[in-house]
Amino acid sequence: MSRAARFAVALAGSIVAGCQAGEEAKSAADCLKQLRAGFRPVAAERRDRFLGKAQEVTASCRGGERALKYRASPWVDWANYWGTGDARSRGRPGTTETRRGLDGALLDLEYQRIELIRFNLFDNATYEEYVKGRGPLPGPSLDAWPEMRLPRGHPSYAAVGGGGEQLCGGDLIRHRTLTGICNDIRNPAMGSTGQRFSRLVPFESTFPDLARDQRARNRHGGRLGLLSPDPQVISRMLFTRAQAHPDKCRSGLGLDGESREADCDYKKANSFNVLAAFWIQFMTHDWFSHLEEGRNGKEKAPTGCLSERVEGAERPLAPAQAARLGCRPEDRIDRALVAEGDEPPDFEYDGRRHIARAYRTTRNTVTAWWDASQVYGHDAVSRRRVRRDPADRARLLLLPDGSGRPYLPVLSPEDPMNPAWAGQEATAFPDNWNVGLSFFHNVFAREHDAFADAFRREAARAPDADSGLRDPAEPDRPVRCRDVTPERLFEVARLVVAAEIAKIHTLEWTTQLLYDEPLYLAMNANWNGLLGGHRELAEALRQVVARLGASTDPKRTLKWYSVLASGPGIVGLGSHVYEDGPFAAFDPRKHDRWDIHNPDHVNGGVNHFGSPFNFPEEFVTVYRLHPLVPDLFEYRELANPDVILRKVPVVETFRGKATARTRSGGLANWALSLGRQRVGALTLNNHPGFLQALPMPPERTGTGRLDVAALDLLRDRERGVPRFNELRRQLGLRQVASFDDFVDGRLPPGPERAEQEETARRLREIYGRHVCDASKAITEAQVNSDGSAIDDCLGRPAGSLVDNVEDLDAVVGWLAESTRPHGFAISETQFQVFILNASRRLFSDRFFTSCFRPEFYSTLGFRWVNDSGPDGKVWEQGEPNGHRQEVSPLKRVLLRTVPELAGELAPVVNVFDPWARARGEYYSLEWKPRPGAEADEAFRR
Ligand code: HEM
Repeated sequence: MSRAARFAVALAGSIVAGCQAGEEAKSAADCLKQLRAGFRPVAAERRDRFLGKAQEVTASCRGGERALKYRASPWVDWANYWGTGDARSRGRPGTTETRRGLDGALLDLEYQRIELIRFNLFDNATYEEYVKGRGPLPGPSLDAWPEMRLPRGHPSYAAVGGGGEQLCGGDLIRHRTLTGICNDIRNPAMGSTGQRFSRLVPFESTFPDLARDQRARNRHGGRLGLLSPDPQVISRMLFTRAQAHPDKCRSGLGLDGESREADCDYKKANSFNVLAAFWIQFMTHDWFSHLEEGRNGKEKAPTGCLSERVEGAERPLAPAQAARLGCRPEDRIDRALVAEGDEPPDFEYDGRRHIARAYRTTRNTVTAWWDASQVYGHDAVSRRRVRRDPADRARLLLLPDGSGRPYLPVLSPEDPMNPAWAGQEATAFPDNWNVGLSFFHNVFAREHDAFADAFRREAARAPDADSGLRDPAEPDRPVRCRDVTPERLFEVARLVVAAEIAKIHTLEWTTQLLYDEPLYLAMNANWNGLLGGHRELAEALRQVVARLGASTDPKRTLKWYSVLASGPGIVGLGSHVYEDGPFAAFDPRKHDRWDIHNPDHVNGGVNHFGSPFNFPEEFVTVYRLHPLVPDLFEYRELANPDVILRKVPVVETFRGKATARTRSGGLANWALSLGRQRVGALTLNNHPGFLQALPMPPERTGTGRLDVAALDLLRDRERGVPRFNELRRQLGLRQVASFDDFVDGRLPPGPERAEQEETARRLREIYGRHVCDASKAITEAQVNSDGSAIDDCLGRPAGSLVDNVEDLDAVVGWLAESTRPHGFAISETQFQVFILNASRRLFSDRFFTSCFRPEFYSTLGFRWVNDSGPDGKVWEQGEPNGHRQEVSPLKRVLLRTVPELAGELAPVVNVFDPWARARGEYYSLEWKPRPGAEADEAFRR
């Protein structure tokens, strides 16, 4: 019997064994029907995509009546399967319901990922070949591009092969390079500093306000502009936090003396803390930036507070109305940088014209790799700010404060810098500096030095021992510990720190951001693989693959790849070369043929799915997470952790002010304060007040103030991000048909539902309505269920008055999404973007796949990443949420770098869950103190 058949029989057997009366019997019978029908095929055409909506029998099998009840909503089905919520969501004891729900959710997520890989890769440089292919090779199977060569004049041009075939070797492949070149040895420029951002949507869908495309014109009816609807008006009406005591908040400035009586209300997320907010800002500074040294273009432009929409028509905002809203018509900001703004080239394929890139493009001014470039630099200028310890150049420079604790040095006048950064710590990426960023930069500088010191200690103990490292120039000669130069050790420490950061982000931050069991399993699958504890699921995924069609070469058909990779995990893929192919899990009993001489082994684990890796513009959008930030920090000290001593305005820790704050409080007290405080929920009317009037140099803003919340909208418009509904359709999610769709249909009548209804009303007031025209087709991404074109009426009768839901800015739309999977701090639209890119940045990076080996990381470094430290794996007591768990990687880092935290961290399972919260039984979101923290003031309100 085939493996697939054995699986089907086993599953059917266990279902029947669990059969009882009623809902359970129907659901189990539906499972058998689904098994007989087989798994759905992966869509061949965009219009046939999965949309996160399962067949009726499938939904019934995985979630019973609850899953069936909400199938008609626009939101994904898996959120209503068994086991995907808290303890109440689990299936009946003695049945397979919970397992069906969880396996089903993971299968749904995998379908989404396959289809995103298939339909959502649009590279601004290589798209024509992606569509047409190259000779006999189809575009999606291409893995090297002329556009990713180093240009003549590049300092490494000759070293990689100049005008001939370019292939990186020697010193260029030993470690991560400063500008990110040679990560892919056959595409030296890929992911390096200054490459163009890509897109997730067809180029014709970008820049809807330019109205260049007929469907965009039909969709928006001439209503869009950079300043319409007005960004500052939207900010004030849809982003402002309501304050019960405005006099105690004072727009985020708090009270004199940082009085603890200050009070700035914000909507809080119970299961995510303020450390998590600054962690993600710290990450984004590694992955992308549109600015050069904190600067945009030279030209200045208004930011709104100029008009409002009344009964569908735009009219000037009266001064009295502006004053009432609190916006500032005089605010200016420098325009976004543009790389190419001329007419995009076009080409013909299959009887159709396509444009070869977006109407305008922008550059990622840092490396796109997960290489800790925010710490180590992305070009020569940023590297000059990275200080090395003159006593041992393998270390970063940390200077002791009065009490001997090491801190990053401050920028000096010789450092290259934007004048706005004066007084803050010297680091590669210094923009928008604050106490949270200062915290993480100091922690990882200490971690870098902890690794370098540990390596030095091992080398002192056994100087002739093999370090594990190899030199590509002399690959057969072991590099002894004593021969590792400070320069080399510095770069090895960088590899280790970058991999630790990626591990923390994947296994700790993301599993707390998306706090439920399917995402715990999915993120662990990315890192550790599914083969470990989830054999049934791995088998189910194999069956999906079987439906996709046979091929002997998985790299030739991207359809298979991501599914198969979930078996062994993405990290380490291709780092062992066995007879049985690239998807075998690590097995020390097998003969490993991996060979550093062989470029196909060095580069063999990466897969770009036919499109060079860089982040898409739409990825930046979904990271505009400013509502996470509170207005006031609740400052505490370890001596009495339950007491909030002061309310420190976040704005008082901005830029240079952060540095003194970090030092006077110390990393331990700041970790405690940010670790215990809840983060802001990512919803409407929850932006920090201080960010709506952020002090900024007058030469940039005219007024010396900036509404960053309004700027979030303006920048997305300047960069041509599609509006919310078209973005959803293009991403393979169901569209919303009116603002009322944002009300969570699962809620009973009550204050929460009433608040959402009020939001829908306000969206209508701001974005307006129009009389629809059913003759206007508005999208090519999807069709109606009867196969007809989706038109301006969105399913309503011709001539109806419909919401201008198509005009909704992407950020406003995803903040308005109240129907979310359990424990999701972000919305499902944001998450859809993450599904693709969280895996791509691992799949594309040789240092996380085929070069995740001691030859590059050293034996100590490789162990350090795998075990989260030098001293072997350490396990948590008990089984949090039903899993035996290692002590989390960030907890291990903090215990090494800020050891004063040992007591406070002891009961903490995930550093991004509020430290004094009881985690409860199974993905509880309740706000209750853990034993021992009952006196914490944060639980009194
Ligand atoms: C004290 C806290 C923060 C301040 C003062 C701040 C300030 C700013 C400013 C002024 C910009 C606009 C840059 C421009 O386009 O000219 C910006 C952009 C941005 N911020 Fe923040 N921010 C803060 C926290 C965060 C956090 C917690 C996140 C979470 C991820 C975040 C994510 C972003 C993103 C993604 C952009 C767009 C960057 C780009 O276009 O390349 N920010 N922020």
